Amino acid sequence: MPKDFFSHLHDKKTPPTYKFFNGEAWMDGASSKTVEVISPIDNSLVGRIPLVSNLEIDQAISNAKKAQEAWMRVPMIERGKILHLAADWMREHEHYLTALLIKEIGKNTPEAKDEILRSADMIDYFAHEGLHVKGEELSGEAFPGYDQTKMAIVEKVPLGVILAIAPFNYPVNLSVSKIAPALITGNCVVYKPPTQGAISCLHLTEIFYLAGLPKGLIVTITGGGAEVGNYLVSHKDINGITFTGSSQVGKEIAVKAGMIPLLFECGGNNPAVVLPDADLYSTAIEIVKGAFSYSGQRCTAIKYVLGLKPTIDKLIPMVSQKTKEFIKMGDPRIPEINLGPVISDGEADIIERRILMAKAQGAKIIMGGKRKERLIEPTILDLVRPSMEIMQIETFGPVVSFLRVESIEEAVKIINSSDYGLQASIFTSDEGAGIQLARQIKVGTIQINSKPQRGPDHFPFLGVKGSGVGVQGIRYTLEAMMRPRPIVLNKPH
Ligand code: G3H
Repeated sequence: MPKDFFSHLHDKKTPPTYKFFNGEAWMDGASSKTVEVISPIDNSLVGRIPLVSNLEIDQAISNAKKAQEAWMRVPMIERGKILHLAADWMREHEHYLTALLIKEIGKNTPEAKDEILRSADMIDYFAHEGLHVKGEELSGEAFPGYDQTKMAIVEKVPLGVILAIAPFNYPVNLSVSKIAPALITGNCVVYKPPTQGAISCLHLTEIFYLAGLPKGLIVTITGGGAEVGNYLVSHKDINGITFTGSSQVGKEIAVKAGMIPLLFECGGNNPAVVLPDADLYSTAIEIVKGAFSYSGQRCTAIKYVLGLKPTIDKLIPMVSQKTKEFIKMGDPRIPEINLGPVISDGEADIIERRILMAKAQGAKIIMGGKRKERLIEPTILDLVRPSMEIMQIETFGPVVSFLRVESIEEAVKIINSSDYGLQASIFTSDEGAGIQLARQIKVGTIQINSKPQRGPDHFPFLGVKGSGVGVQGIRYTLEAMMRPRPIVLNKPH
């Protein structure tokens, strides 16, 4: 039974209290203080995780540092073998991990299963691509005045201790996207899972160790962001931070972390522009998928749609129709359900309030708008204006807003005035016009005739403005986990 592999991660009580991994062993928190992990599906207690103290964090980081010194000397191909084994392990135990993810964060089965399998593929890809990372040799003579007096051997070296902070919406996948590139390039990882998703993350940690990872290379620190997170981000021994989460938290971390390399994926608030010549049938389907998958809790979800009046007039009934056809709200453990609860009561409160505020300010609820506990109906808002809060701050729930613009230039102006800049979609039957328009939009990635999305995972993935720092995507993430070390040979005069 796969469960036996993990029995040492928690005590024997039901629901269990989990341990954290300090690099040497699975440990109970010294203070006995814990944080509860509540299932968004039925509000049940899935388990408790330790609130790790600062002293324990110091010890764990010191263990990780020691382990990293040996690890960076292990041949890349040997490091890769361990990663491939971890990927195989995930595939083999996909059912167990999927069930855990469903309970802990309320994904439906296809979404949870996809997260696990995508993570396994991602680990393999990082391990393969790591082998192609190489330094270079540069000659000084290319720059005037240096003749042949200087030559640089530019080595690529690991940053050292990487702090990886993962979000609740992809606790496994957006951990793997940090841990795998860090390890293959010779770093160690101080890993801070989200509270909801933490139990899956503890299992993920153990999977790397079951695959043969030497002790200490991942230390997994559980606890709330306010206590544990704040201490970690400003810890003197952290050499780089990779984080996925809200723009607000990203900005706070950047201030506390100071002058170290940062790789951040933050909030999206992504627009879709629908040009008059778009195929509205397929556009409507992409909007429904983009706005409502995993209940809109994706940084790449479509949050608002812009178009000329005749386009939006035709499009809204089609989006409403497709929502009725495709989206079934309820308990995500039921096979036909594809829209489950949002992560917590607090988040549901925020989403509900934003919908009601938009309505009070003149928006029209075309569909949905109601809430039952953490279930928010798929909601379509019309007559939304850029000044409304729902347009200004990313709303992590199943809500999509429609705006009628006088011209496509006005649409560009609205998008470019946003504080966010992750992705945007353009729907058109003229790809050339789509490319021209894409060049005017200030976001990381522009999708033509598709919803925004991060994958395929080897494409560059980045946000501008409040949406991120640095570039991810297999090769790009590997680069971000290393620094060049030029050793310059000088010919004596
Ligand atoms: O929530 C942020 C994720 O990076 C989105 O990933 O586009 O694969 O859903 P996704």
